[in-house]
Amino acid sequence: MSRKKISVVGAGNVGATTAQRLAEKDFCDVVLVDILEGMPQGKALDLMQSGPVYGYDSKVTGTNGYEETAGSDIIIITSGLPRKPGMSRDDLLKVNAGIVKDVTLKAIAKSPGAMIIVVSNPLDAMTYVAYKHSKFPAHKVMGMAGILDSARFRCFIAMELGVSVRDITAFVLGGHGDTMVPSTKYTTVAGIPVEDLIPKPKLDAIVERTRKGGGEIVALLKTGSAYYAPSAASVQMCESIILDKKMILPCAVLSQGKYEGCDGLFVGLPAKLGEGGVEEVVKFKLSAEESAALKQSAGAVKELCEAVDRLGF
Ligand code: LAC
Repeated sequence: MSRKKISVVGAGNVGATTAQRLAEKDFCDVVLVDILEGMPQGKALDLMQSGPVYGYDSKVTGTNGYEETAGSDIIIITSGLPRKPGMSRDDLLKVNAGIVKDVTLKAIAKSPGAMIIVVSNPLDAMTYVAYKHSKFPAHKVMGMAGILDSARFRCFIAMELGVSVRDITAFVLGGHGDTMVPSTKYTTVAGIPVEDLIPKPKLDAIVERTRKGGGEIVALLKTGSAYYAPSAASVQMCESIILDKKMILPCAVLSQGKYEGCDGLFVGLPAKLGEGGVEEVVKFKLSAEESAALKQSAGAVKELCEAVDRLGF
């Protein structure tokens, strides 16, 4: 049996850290692709040389082309520009749509049977671009954002209560933007509803900090956006697919009939990920308020997708 292969396109902070986390998990070989000459090769070699110390046998290859990506099980697209302070993710639409389209076409030519995980921003619209141009079935195309946003939410709740992050289950749904919907109804601490543990004004403040979680880091870093948590989230999706774990994770997936206002859009919803890719979009019964917020968030995603079409991407 040959090892599974995951190609990571874009060897910047998100891509390279994703490759590192994948190599350390030791369940696949990794190909790191970037247009900058020498950079992916250098990072791949450095990762290979970490193997003896960490004890992994993952083969990591760096390349400027797509030949080495042939036959990938998963292609992770991280290419594109990150945000600068003051920019919204949506400001990146025009430049990143062209990049994501180009990368999708080149990658699928070598790996027609792969699944695609999109990480580039604006996330939901870029997932739509990859879906549109790959012409892959919807269960093979997904975007990483909900796990990241939920991880931020879980982290802030754990900090507030002084408990283990492991005890906190949370789902942030909707688009990966200012309209995202951290569901307090389905957020629990060791099974106890968070609404019973944190007073509403404090919980509202945590929800707001979660919504702006990416921007908070952009403002601190000044030269780019977050990458430790985004890469961790991407790798969790790969793990659930490659190891067929069937974890229920919030991801940008094509909504077909389960959530009001979301149909036909890639938007953050709870999804079961396994060897078949998106095996199910899981239906949660949202509160009226959450349902309305999700609908509004889906509306914002729809506008971006319409802009993608209008701009000819
Ligand atoms: C963030 C960027 C990567 O949320 O969208 O950090």
